[in-house]
Amino acid sequence: KREQHLQSILATVPDAMIVIDERGIMISFSAAAERLFGYAEADVLGRNVSMLMPNPDRERHDAYLQRYLDTRIPHIIGIGRIVTGLRADGSTFPMKLSVGEALSEDQRLFTGFVQDLTERKDFEARLEQLK
Ligand code: HEM
Repeated sequence: KREQHLQSILATVPDAMIVIDERGIMISFSAAAERLFGYAEADVLGRNVSMLMPNPDRERHDAYLQRYLDTRIPHIIGIGRIVTGLRADGSTFPMKLSVGEALSEDQRLFTGFVQDLTERKDFEARLEQLK
């Protein structure tokens, strides 16, 4: 089954990878994403990806998706952006977000790759203090 094939790939990708449908509903959540955000995949499937970010993006994310579907003008797809993520324990962290678009037979999907920038930010802050 296609779902199982997707699961087997996602179990092995080293980066946190999240797949959503065009309404923002999470349909896949990799093992690295589970570790990074502190949620088990079973707890997030079927829920909106906006639960993984703080406001103001959290309340606007549906509109971001809709705007893209309406205009086809990308703001993150193929470009990437440093944004703020929200973990299950309520803490926030800087992350590099890369988004791709995939058309599978019957539906449009978006794949998000998340890179945790916490260590890099700490390093930059320490470097700044040395100046
Ligand atoms: C658009 C934030 C996660 C898919 C956006 C935009 C922001 C944003 C700010 C609009 C950019 C703009 O209008 O200038 C975030 C934050 C995330 C997150 C803070 C933290 C978890 C994700 C994930 C996916 C995703 C995991 C895919 C699996 C999209 C798509 C768009 C979008 C498809 C619209 C297309 C585009 O603007 O290029 N997001 N996002 N987002 N995001 Fe997210």
